[in-house]
Amino acid sequence: MSLNKKSVDDINVKGRRVLVRCDFNVPLKNGEITDETRIVAALPTIKKLVKDGGKVILCSHLGKVKNGPNEGESLAPVAKRLSEKLGKDVKFISDYNVTGATATGAVEAMKEGDVILLQNTRFRGKEETKPEEAGDAFAKELADLADDYVCDAFGSAHRAHASVAGVTKFIKEKGGNNAVGYLMQKEIDFLGNAVENPVRPFVAILGGAKVADKLNVINTLLDKCDTLIIGGGMAYTFLKAKGYEVGKSLLDESKVEYCKEMMEKAEKAGKKLLLPVDTVCIDSFPDPIDNPNIETTVVDADKIPSNKEGADIGPKTIELYAEAVKSAKTVVWNGPMGVFENPVLAAGTEEVAKALSETTATTIIGGGDSAAAVNQLGYADKMSHISTGGGASLEFLEGKKLPGVYAADDK
Ligand code: 3PG
Ligand code: MG
Repeated sequence: MSLNKKSVDDINVKGRRVLVRCDFNVPLKNGEITDETRIVAALPTIKKLVKDGGKVILCSHLGKVKNGPNEGESLAPVAKRLSEKLGKDVKFISDYNVTGATATGAVEAMKEGDVILLQNTRFRGKEETKPEEAGDAFAKELADLADDYVCDAFGSAHRAHASVAGVTKFIKEKGGNNAVGYLMQKEIDFLGNAVENPVRPFVAILGGAKVADKLNVINTLLDKCDTLIIGGGMAYTFLKAKGYEVGKSLLDESKVEYCKEMMEKAEKAGKKLLLPVDTVCIDSFPDPIDNPNIETTVVDADKIPSNKEGADIGPKTIELYAEAVKSAKTVVWNGPMGVFENPVLAAGTEEVAKALSETTATTIIGGGDSAAAVNQLGYADKMSHISTGGGASLEFLEGKKLPGVYAADDK
């Protein structure tokens, strides 16, 4: 899918100040970055702007920042890792105000090809609000720092926040460019082609805990795909809709009707909707989640005992799903098949990952939990594309317009 938006290839940034919104919302443990995927994914755009002689001002959010600015959610570790990855100094502006005198001073001192990173945009609170409300003031301050703006934060592109979308209005007002970066282009190419122009058969796999999170994506993907595979906690609401008892498994009573409608929709359209035919049951949810000392029993999907809960797809289901993937030409996967964080309950997710790694299909993994699972289980380099966006990839697959994309200038 070609994106009709101005990109970093369409603008000349030599000597210009370029504000780049990245998604550096990386997981941290004791101040250490535990997964640098999003940093690595941002490098091509940054390198391009450096090479072209831009003054590169990076910004991002990190975490939810529920209790105001704090060192635990500072972007300092990102600046450090980014310097290592780029092989050049990334000056970190640690000021909790993000914009203001310190940032302005640092930008004024920049030379062509320099890179600085501003502090966590959510330290300003207003970032969270809609740009047309209070976020506007912050958006203007960000725009004041730069001549041009590049959005490369695919993972945040579904947020209509000041630094993602609000800023574009002010850049435009002063005649600057609003462009998208290489990561945005790549994500939209893969995800967009998969749903709009898939090489068929197109198999979509959805998992994860809650049906409610995936209502629109189930509906949209049923229109586009040839086979829809359901696993994970959300499968039990479908099984209930089929008339099965699901014991203590995750169940959303309020969505049973919806699941029935989706099954009817699939039937009418002549599409395959695959549900688990067997399931791995446990007595109670493992605590901690990765505690391997748990008893499991495998039962058919219509025979889940009243005192047990399903926590992974069973071996017959694995075979069924792997078979469906084998002949596919395009596969999109979002959401794990079971409690993959627990080694005893990871087989379903792992076998689906393995099946994807063995198919000749273009394989696209939605971000968030599915990306974490594929990484954790060691199949990352076998996939065609792993999205850096969880919520963003889901909203994109639902057919929603992402603010971070449409705020950029048309070509
Ligand atoms: C994410 O990790 O989901 C993105 O960085 C967006 O973060 P948010 O869900 O806190 O807006
Ligand atoms: Mg999120």
